[in-house]
Amino acid sequence: MPDFGIAPHAFVQRGIDGGRGRDHDFLFHDDRVEDLGLIFVTFSDTVNSITERLASLCERATMQDWDLKEQVVVQTLQQTNQYNWKVQVETYVECYHHIGGHSETLQKIMPAAASRCEEDKGTWTVCHASLNKDLSHLSPAERSTVAAFERNTIAGDTLGHIVVIYPCTLVTFMKGGGDIRILSPISPGVTKSTILTTRQLAQTQAPNFSQWLAEYTATAEVVNKEDNDINLMQQIGVLSSRAAVGRFSHLEAGAWHLAQFVRQRIRDWGTS
Ligand SMILES: [Fe+2]
Repeated sequence: MPDFGIAPHAFVQRGIDGGRGRDHDFLFHDDRVEDLGLIFVTFSDTVNSITERLASLCERATMQDWDLKEQVVVQTLQQTNQYNWKVQVETYVECYHHIGGHSETLQKIMPAAASRCEEDKGTWTVCHASLNKDLSHLSPAERSTVAAFERNTIAGDTLGHIVVIYPCTLVTFMKGGGDIRILSPISPGVTKSTILTTRQLAQTQAPNFSQWLAEYTATAEVVNKEDNDINLMQQIGVLSSRAAVGRFSHLEAGAWHLAQFVRQRIRDWGTS
């Protein structure tokens, strides 16, 4: 079970369940990570500051002027899914699955072969989804998918920084927007998720924002269902003993990084 959960500024409250499946009526310890625009919370009074763990991520956020702290939550979605939290994290942090899972949507816009993972950062990992250089062949429906994302592009030709803060906080940092997924592991086969969409305040005040949000929501619903379908198959796959490194495994390096982190924590826990 993670020792830290996450709560965006507006969501910090007494009694957040911390993944334990019921409300608690005591104060938790919170840790404000200003550079990221996030507050992490914990019920433990022995864990160290997560700000120190995330120093290199904060450095990146400052250097590249990530602006999540200037944004507001524009949409909240709650999900209870029948798969393990680790399956959800792994799918989030790699774009290799675009080939099969999103063959009619994201694969045409952010193809798996154009994605890349960085080296493991120890307490977090990051993947980049590069936008397809040639979007001229897209159908009107596919073009609307691009439109839903195009305001979010950061660093030129990528969607943004798709980050896993170990173990189970998922954040895509985009210019002017963010996607935050707070996972609550309920059991080995059940995970609750809170999905927050954030945007710059100025963008939310634009006259066509509600139309844009409706288009974004429609697009995100399709992609989200595709991911859930993939995760349900992965949940079956985790029981297999035949998994092995494949030709394109470097495209899902973030999944190995997480596995390494979990392994290390289990080892530390066993020896402490
Ligand atoms: Fe996906």
